[in-house]
This record gives sequence, C-alpha cells and structure tokens, in this order.
Amino acid sequence: MNKHSSIKSSGSLLERASEMYDFGAALRGGSAPIPVPPAVEPEQPKAGQPEAAQPIPAAPAPALAPAPAPTPAAAAIRSAMAPAPVSRTQVTISRERLAAHNFIVPDGPVTGLSEEFRIVKRQLLLAARGGKGFDPLPHGERILICSANPDEGKTYSAINLALSMASEKDNRVLLVDADFAKPSILSTLGIEKHRGFMDALADPDCDVESLVLQTDIDGLSILPAGSQTNQDTEYLAASRTAEIIDQLTRNDPARIIIFDSPPALAASPASVLALHVGQTLMVVHADVTTESALRDALSLLSGCENIQLLLNRTKFSPTGRKFGNYYGYGAS
Ligand SMILES: Nc1ncnc2c1ncn2[C@@H]1O[C@H](COP(=O)(O)OP(=O)(O)O)[C@@H](O)[C@H]1O
Ligand SMILES: [Mg+2]
Repeated sequence: MNKHSSIKSSGSLLERASEMYDFGAALRGGSAPIPVPPAVEPEQPKAGQPEAAQPIPAAPAPALAPAPAPTPAAAAIRSAMAPAPVSRTQVTISRERLAAHNFIVPDGPVTGLSEEFRIVKRQLLLAARGGKGFDPLPHGERILICSANPDEGKTYSAINLALSMASEKDNRVLLVDADFAKPSILSTLGIEKHRGFMDALADPDCDVESLVLQTDIDGLSILPAGSQTNQDTEYLAASRTAEIIDQLTRNDPARIIIFDSPPALAASPASVLALHVGQTLMVVHADVTTESALRDALSLLSGCENIQLLLNRTKFSPTGRKFGNYYGYGAS
C-alpha cells in the first residue's frame, strides 16, 4: 500500500469524487496497489463540440495577450536553481491556442480548470518532493500520465498538469511525449515537428538533452516523441531507455518529468515506461472507462508502485455546489 495513500484534500472534489465513484470496488481483486482518492477534472466543453454537461461556472475570460515576463523575484529564484545553461531550440506556444483548446493559460485568471489541476499537482509534488511527514517517493519526480484506452484525456491532462506545475516560480517541468505511435503534444500546442526521445533511443551518440525544446513559458520544456518507428517497444525495452531517463534527471535533478503515455491496453510501451517512473496518474474517463478495462490497465502498469486516479470529464457536481465558488481562496 502506498504510504501516500493517506494524502487527502479535505473537503475537495477529490474526496467527493471518491464517494461518488466506488473505485475501491473497481480495483478490489486487482493486483495493482490501491490508489489514493481520484481527482476530478471539470467539464469544459470541447471546442466545436458542445457537451451535454453543465458548463463550468462562468470564469473571467482568459487573457489572450502574450504572457507578461516573470517578475524579477520569480526569475531570480528559478535561475538560482537552474542547471548549467544548454543552448536549446526555442519554441513559442500560442496563448490563444491554449485558450481555444481549453488548456490552462499561463498568467491567465484563476479558473475552475486551473483550480482542479492545482489540487492534482499538489498531491503529485508532495509525493515527488516529500513534506508534511512524507518522504519523497523514489523517482517521484517522474510521472507517467496513462489511461486504459485512447481518447480518455492523457495528453489533455499531461499538458494541463505541466502548465500548472510550470506556473510555480520554483518548478521546472519537462513534458515528454512518450506516445511514440501517436504523438500529439507538438501538434496540440501548435509546434512544428522536431526530433525527440525515439531518435535518442535509436542513436547511442545522440545527447537527449540537445533535443529538448525550450518553450516561451517560463519553466516549461518539451521532449518530442521523435521519429516514428514500428520498433518502439524494442527500443524502449533496451537498457538505453533507463540511461536516457537517468540522464534527463541527472542534468537537472530538480525538474519534474511528465510522460504522456500511450494507452495501457493498446500498446506495450506503457508498461515499460511504468518501470522507469515513481508515480503514475491514471486518467479515467468518467462514465466511459469500464471497471474491467481499468483493472486490466492497472495490472499492466504494476511496474510502478504508486498509482493515482484522475477522473476526467465528470458531469456531476456532488453537492450541487460548483467549484467556481472557491475561486480566489489561495494561490498555488
Ligand atoms: N476534460 C476535458 N475537457 C475538454 N476536452 C477534453 C477533456 N479531456 C479530453 N479532452 C479532449 O478530448 C480529446 C481526446 O483527449 P486526449 O487528451 O488527446 O486523449 P488521449 O491522450 O488519452 O488519447 C482531445 O481533443 C482533448 O482536447
Ligand atoms: Mg494522447
């Protein structure tokens, strides 16, 4: 049993979701460890595709202007912790595009979405870094975002989590596109194709750090999936995978590495990746992911001992109260 299982966010939607959805029942009898209470992600209507769900409470429209430069104090703290500078390819992420696709907008107003990911982020960072009486998990700074099937919200959650973590002045986040067969982080963020993880795996002379893209969002960098191959599982199973991931951690031990995984039931790389991370966030598509699919997926990811659930696309408000009622009660 994961000792972080007792981490709770009192009175939050995390607990209320676990009351509504009997994940204990879903997982009993499975070989995977029992996860901590699931988190809830607010429903946000997809662009161009209205959902039947109640829309999230009205939040101020996100600021679409380019993000302001970080405050001098924030920049100073981050650079004091920064590793030796490497010259990296710079890429720009359009804030308009983030807003249009329902992602958290850096330096935008507090919204229901940013509040939900703030809660999820807190739990993961506590497990990664320790604190409040908990020791850090071994390699808790490496987080796999997985789900049983395609289209359950892995990439959506991975990007929002990375944006939420990078918004804190002392965090650096590396978002790795590890869905080698169907990479989508670059296209989702409107960034052109670049070499990436698979190229570093295939070429022992390639320095993986040189493939990391620096975004114009302070604290956020991206490692693309790289060239497509039908041998991704073979490459991943080789010892070079551990070397590359260790190198990424060694180059900047303070950074959080978020892996956007392929679906556990559709592709074997997910179970290989689970061996290299300290935490897994399992995205569950509310009312869609079946109990048996969830159980099968969790057993495939058993290489990772610490699995938490994130309930995505919920259409309920357990108390009738909307999350937006809490806006502005505290900074991240
Ligand atoms: N909570 C959500 N609110 C709005 N759109 C979502 C949400 N979760 C997922 N989506 C959208 O659903 C589609 C599939 O999600 P995606 O993250 O790409 O799935 P996966 O990576 O698991 O295959 C994407 O268009 C994504 O933007
Ligand atoms: Mg995806």
